[in-house]
Amino acid sequence: MNDIISSAPRPRFEPYQPFAQSQLDDPYPVLSRARAEQPVFYVPELDFWVVTRYEDVNRIYGQPALYSNAAVLTPRVDVPDEIRREFGDRQLPLAHQLVMTDPPQHTRLKKLMTPAFMPSRINAREAWIRQYTNTLIDGFVADRSADLVGQYAVRIPPAVIGKIVGAPERDAQQFAGWVDDIFTLTGAWDVPENERAAAWRGVFAFEDYIRQLIADRRHHPQDDLTTDFIQAVTDDGTAAMSDIEVLHNVVNVAAAGADTTGVLISQLLHLLLTHPEQLQAILADRSLVANAVHEAMRFRPPVRGLMRKTSSDVNVGGIAIAAGSMVFISLASANRDSAVFDKAEQFDVRRDGAFKNLGFGSRTHACIGVNLARMEARIAVETLFERLPDLVLVEGQATMQYRPNLMLPAFKSLRVRW
Ligand code: HEM
Repeated sequence: MNDIISSAPRPRFEPYQPFAQSQLDDPYPVLSRARAEQPVFYVPELDFWVVTRYEDVNRIYGQPALYSNAAVLTPRVDVPDEIRREFGDRQLPLAHQLVMTDPPQHTRLKKLMTPAFMPSRINAREAWIRQYTNTLIDGFVADRSADLVGQYAVRIPPAVIGKIVGAPERDAQQFAGWVDDIFTLTGAWDVPENERAAAWRGVFAFEDYIRQLIADRRHHPQDDLTTDFIQAVTDDGTAAMSDIEVLHNVVNVAAAGADTTGVLISQLLHLLLTHPEQLQAILADRSLVANAVHEAMRFRPPVRGLMRKTSSDVNVGGIAIAAGSMVFISLASANRDSAVFDKAEQFDVRRDGAFKNLGFGSRTHACIGVNLARMEARIAVETLFERLPDLVLVEGQATMQYRPNLMLPAFKSLRVRW
């Protein structure tokens, strides 16, 4: 590390308290002040930097040689003693996930993994997803009330990704809980020991499940992504993915596909139900639903931000940051940057350019599941309001409490009646 940079001032921004319940529930006012007053700042208690402006976040996405992804999903909490005793130094199945790698490994894996998620492959699943959303609604329509998170939004993505990787639906519904465990360990800094131990066990159970799935497909290949990863070969006929890459990337796809999209669908439904004039607009013109999905991704991105580790000394927005530092790129903040989005604090399903949001990342690490996630969210909204056009929120449900997580602070219920 360069001595000049290591002794450079580290500007702070005291109002930023990401784990205060008020900022979990509504991080946007403080982020807006940060963009204006101190767009890049250091948080000493948590030992990371925060980058808040769109331009800086987007530039970082284009500089993987300076900002490594290897710490995106590393545990922020200690391994509990009981886990050490029982599992020794067993590692979590994360290091070779696409999202955790840097070029050149990342470039090779991304080329292999992207084709399965191109629109031509994904669109073929539309009819099945529509049928599945209808089946979920059939299950509660007679009750005249429901929890749209637990009974609808978070049920769709695991079923869909289960079909893609080749896991039966009853198994795939467990994925979201296991993914929560990954986020508990990697997105929270202060977790009681019993919860930490439960989360570690959950991630190992997830790994065991995927190991078993892979072992089965080695003997009985099927038409699914797990088999595709196993069978992928290079030009000289050797396996394109090592065994550990297959394992970690089936986990990556199963995890990424199971959880975040449920949060998007929950947020989108909540936003529409709390902005009745916007809901009316999409009911009158269904072609607006796709843009409403972009706008929900902009206005309340499910992944609020991600960690990078600097590989060299860097300069962000005029601030010097030393090599080896943790840098949190705030997608939530970038998406409200008025330098890019007019009236950025308004939710507007008709917004021009809503698609420019960074909710799915960008450039090198842009999400490979973006088309799938957008399609699931669009179908979820279309089916729900076709079947239940008179849906309203139950009194007292307009304010949501978010769980204490820096990356994915999802809320847990959304009660409606009709
Ligand atoms: C609304 C739903 C989703 C959101 C908000 C989301 C968000 C993101 C974000 C922000 C990144 C960038 C990570 C980074 O910068 O380090 C990412 C990457 C990724 N996502 Fe998604 N995602 C969603 C759905 C999905 C789905 C359905 C899949 C299923 C395949 C998926 C698979 C991935 C993978 C494999 C990466 C790693 C890409 C890379 O590092 O090059 N995501 N996602």
